[in-house]
Amino acid sequence: MLDRLQRPLRDLRVSVTDRCNLRCPYCMPREVFGTQFRFLPREQLLTFEEITRVVRAAAAHGVAKVRLTGGEPLLRRELERLIEMLARVDGVSDLAMTTNGLLLARHAQRLRDAGLRRVTVSLDALEQDTLRAMSDGPVSPARILDAIEVASGVGLSPVKINMVVRRGVNDHCVADMAARFRHRPEIVRFIEYMDVGSTNGWSAQEVVSASEILKVIGARWPLEPLEPRRPGEVATRYRYRDGAGEIGVIHSVSSPFCGGCSRARLSADGQLFTCLFARQGHDLRGLLRGGAGAGELERRLHEIWTGRADRYSAERAGAREAADQQPPKVEMSYIGG
Ligand code: GTP
Ligand code: 5AD
Ligand code: SF4
Ligand code: SF4
Repeated sequence: MLDRLQRPLRDLRVSVTDRCNLRCPYCMPREVFGTQFRFLPREQLLTFEEITRVVRAAAAHGVAKVRLTGGEPLLRRELERLIEMLARVDGVSDLAMTTNGLLLARHAQRLRDAGLRRVTVSLDALEQDTLRAMSDGPVSPARILDAIEVASGVGLSPVKINMVVRRGVNDHCVADMAARFRHRPEIVRFIEYMDVGSTNGWSAQEVVSASEILKVIGARWPLEPLEPRRPGEVATRYRYRDGAGEIGVIHSVSSPFCGGCSRARLSADGQLFTCLFARQGHDLRGLLRGGAGAGELERRLHEIWTGRADRYSAERAGAREAADQQPPKVEMSYIGG
């Protein structure tokens, strides 16, 4: 099944909640996501059964990779039950989760037992003050490092670590982060700060490009590029020439990768988005709750995907100029990274 730009659907990212226990200003700034903010009420969230029906339909169209996201996915109660259900779906060979790590240590073993294969943990700095500035919440580097260790220990490996880099906030920590995970199995990915959503006040000046990041790291520990593991991968991989392991850079601003984008995103309330920067989703919840069978769901997915022509990052400059006349872009905490 190919979209209008000949891209297959291979990867489904499932948001299980729009809530989070942090308020990273680049994602959920507290001024917007404060005590007055109305998160999705429970009855609007897809049930685990409903999510599983969507995943089955997606798998029938070739999706092999499913990633649970949020908000913070570990805030969803009984998440292990969903993982068990998804692990049994035919065709799904890679089941992963992206988490901020705060609740990971206590859940890791159960997640693994339920069938989760891998986790990606966000960690934007190793210094307490800088991490607080990046996350605006009750987080400490020691706690996240411990969670990473526990996750590796139970076999949720290799653990990947996401570091969003913002100029003037945590860009001085790039080399530190690289150093901390050299000679370790974990893989750090340095992410260019993106203009997702409409609330983070993004400005191009705050973006530290992947090439700058690579220059800083490569000056200390020479790097060489690695081949992608799969087509359409978001991170470009490098290895240390001295054999100390691998890193990744996610350069969606300086060098967009829409050409190979095979990802769809399901929000916690059952809207399907065909781009991280979309303004509108396609409602699947109505279909799920209106008695649609598997065949109907598959047909709807086919219709949505074959109609898709998104390439926001590739068109970023023009798109930002035209943005004033359009509805706001969806928030990342709502559809997941
Ligand atoms: P792997 O399965 O290990 O390849 O993981 P992943 O890279 O899909 O994992 P993760 O969810 O951690 O994604 C890393 C980051 O890349 C996200 O947090 C986003 O910032 C960014 N990203 C992921 N997908 C897209 C995409 O389709 N478009 C853009 N512009 N950015 C993306
Ligand atoms: N730019 C880049 N990455 C972001 N993330 C959240 N908001 C942004 C943004 N504006 C990342 C988080 C997490 C992943 C799910 O998405 O750091 O690792
Ligand atoms: Fe929460 Fe992750 Fe967004 Fe931070 S980036 S506010 S941890 S969902
Ligand atoms: Fe895919 Fe949209 Fe990201 Fe481009 S901007 S890679 S189309 S999700």
